[in-house]
This record gives sequence, structure tokens and C-alpha cells, in this order.
Amino acid sequence: MRLRNIPGAIEIIRKHPNYIAEPENYRGKWAEYFANTNPLQVEIGSGKGKFITTLARQNQNINYIAIEKFAAVLLKLVKKIKDENLTNLAILHEDAENIEQIFEPGEINKIYLNFSDPWPRKKHAKRRLTNIRFLEMFKKLLSDDGVIAFKTDNHDLFGYSIEQFELAGFLMDEITYDLHNSPLAEYNVTTEYEEKFISQNMPIYALIAYKSNTHPKSI
Ligand SMILES: C[S@@+](CC[C@H](N)C(=O)[O-])C[C@H]1O[C@@H](n2cnc3c(N)ncnc32)[C@H](O)[C@@H]1O
Repeated sequence: MRLRNIPGAIEIIRKHPNYIAEPENYRGKWAEYFANTNPLQVEIGSGKGKFITTLARQNQNINYIAIEKFAAVLLKLVKKIKDENLTNLAILHEDAENIEQIFEPGEINKIYLNFSDPWPRKKHAKRRLTNIRFLEMFKKLLSDDGVIAFKTDNHDLFGYSIEQFELAGFLMDEITYDLHNSPLAEYNVTTEYEEKFISQNMPIYALIAYKSNTHPKSI
């Protein structure tokens, strides 16, 4: 059975208290939604949500938004936090293509891209979330001290992404070809995909890209 065909997925997601049906209504007003001015961090392509739900539990003083385009995958995420009252997490059923309708420029402090689909065929390069078209959109939405954290198992996508981050004017000084044996490992929270690659002893590639050199490099 293809995941996306699970009947009733959208109805179940819509009933979950963390789900936001019309996120464009909160554009520029996410602080109002969360009723505080805590930093805002967004994961794009959250999948089944292990990463973002772990962070939300660990850091009550940070607001998190999970964006995922497939309802059947989101269903797994909402089931994961079924009876938890995670007031610092919002869940959006959206395509990253629409992100500028959801956030105002400068509104996001950190974006996570975890094991983004590689779209290996050249003719699909524009669909990669680290394509310059997306990176320029994300850059606008980040605060001046904002960052993007990217990790992947895919060597080709990693090389391509480094080039695209450079072209989009990001600064990078934490690039690793073995995340789990690097200084970044101390802060690393794993995703579902990452767990799979760890069990296969595959290296994980990761980088932190800074919008500007005003960032204190401590996130
Ligand atoms: C390879 S999975 C990784 C999932 C999760 N981040 C992990 O590491 O376990 C990529 C996820 O990104 C989602 N995705 C891909 N393109 C997207 C887009 N344009 N907007 C929102 N989600 C997207 C896919 O539906 C899928 O769930």
C-alpha cells in the first residue's frame, strides 16, 4: 500500500490540536500563535517527526514548526504525540513551495533540512530543497542571525548543496563528512531516516549554513 493512500489520514490530522489548517493566517504572527516571543525553528520535510517532536520535548523555550507535504506521513507524526500537550509545536500539511505565504521575512531563526529527497535526475534538480531557488526563499525568511542545518546520507546531494549554499551567499564553517564522529555529534538529534543509515554503518554528511557573519556560532 502506498503511504499517501491511507484513507482518512487528512481527517485525523485535522482533528489534532497541534495541526494548523490555515497557516497563512499566522504569517508575521507566529509569536501571537505561540503566545510568546521565543525563537522560531522550522523543519521542512519532517517525515514521521521523531526529530522535531524530540526537540519540542527537550526545549520548551523554543517554538517549532513541522512542515510535511504528505498527509500519510504526517499521520504518523500526529500519532506520535497523540496525548501529549506540546504547546511549542505546530504541524503544517504544506509544500515548501508555499513557504513565503506562511512566514514573513526575518521571522524564522533556524531551518532544518534532514535527509531531504535527493531528486537524483538533473532535470529534477529544481525540486531539491537545497536548490538555490529554495535557498534564496529560505534566506529571506531567516533572521539576520539565522541558520540552516542540513544533513543527508547522499554524497552527491551534499556536494551539490554546498555549491548551492555558496551561490546563495550563505557562510559555512561547519561541514562534516562524518557527523557522528564530529563536534556536531554532541548536539545531534537523530531522525527516522538517520536511524536506518546508522544501522547500516553509513556516514552522515552535515553542515550549518549562516545567513550572515553576525551569528554567534553557538546554535
Ligand atoms: C527522505 S524523507 C526524510 C524524512 C525525515 N526528515 C527523516 O529524516 O526521517 C523526506 C521528507 O520530506 C518530505 N518533503 C519532500 N519535499 C517536500 C516539500 N517540498 N515540502 C514539504 N515536505 C517535503 C517528504 O514527503 C518526506 O516525508
